[in-house]
Amino acid sequence: MSRSPLIARTVPTLRRAIDNLRKRKATIALVPTMGALHDGHVSLVRLAKRRASRVVVSIFVNPTQFAPTEDFGAYPRTWKSDIAKLAAEDVDMVWHPGVEAMYPEGFATRIAPEGPALAGLEDRFRPHFFGGVATVVGKLFTQCRPDFAIFGEKDFQQLRVVTQMARDLDLGVKIIGSRTVRERDGLAMSSRNVYLSPEERQIAPTLYRAMKESARRIKAGDAIASAMAGGAGLIAAAGFTLDYFEVRHAETLGPVTSRKDGPLRILVAARLGSTRLIDNIAV
Ligand code: PAF
Repeated sequence: MSRSPLIARTVPTLRRAIDNLRKRKATIALVPTMGALHDGHVSLVRLAKRRASRVVVSIFVNPTQFAPTEDFGAYPRTWKSDIAKLAAEDVDMVWHPGVEAMYPEGFATRIAPEGPALAGLEDRFRPHFFGGVATVVGKLFTQCRPDFAIFGEKDFQQLRVVTQMARDLDLGVKIIGSRTVRERDGLAMSSRNVYLSPEERQIAPTLYRAMKESARRIKAGDAIASAMAGGAGLIAAAGFTLDYFEVRHAETLGPVTSRKDGPLRILVAARLGSTRLIDNIAV
């Protein structure tokens, strides 16, 4: 039988619960989420369970990583089904602060990440994003004091940003990346996929197919520029508006000109109707 996780909504309640776990010598893995949980999140939880004796999942739709023009208000909120999924996975605790608990009146401190946060990918189109992510993830780490934190590779630049931040600020948490979980047709699982119309849902896997085709050509020895132009053409022909379709160094996210500069990663962001999708694969 599944057991409901303990739900903490205030910092003092969370502190007491974390102190209790620590007294019992538990190791803690944190899975930061914004809710609207799908099988991709479940795979993060399962990886967390393999790493630590206790798993904390945070559910907080973080306003500071959304621009005023973005979908903060419309972001899917599916609390009941989220808790049912976490109970089925035997998660120990859910950290679910309100906005006022995370950003109390007078809050005035912000982390400004550089390095991978300024790689010219997501940051070019969402300049507010990584400041908001770094600030909230920094807070989640000091609140939950985890030994491990699990992030999906789907948000690849985010994974690099939080890894760099944990190292630079000596946060004492090991960041673990978890492989992207895909639908059968290759579309990366994302809470935002619910925005796609049935027609757009049919087109959406083109992103994955285009990345695979460009990766295949690069591995076969084609020039990077031509392999990437081919993939970008497939995406545009399917009806997307491209923000970027780039191959970068997988660790630094710096530009590359040849396969020998690798390990390489292809990263894409594109809009289909009003939905913006991101994805990436290793070359
Ligand atoms: O990837 C997400 O869901 C969010 O960016 C995160 C890491 C939970 C921070 O709000």
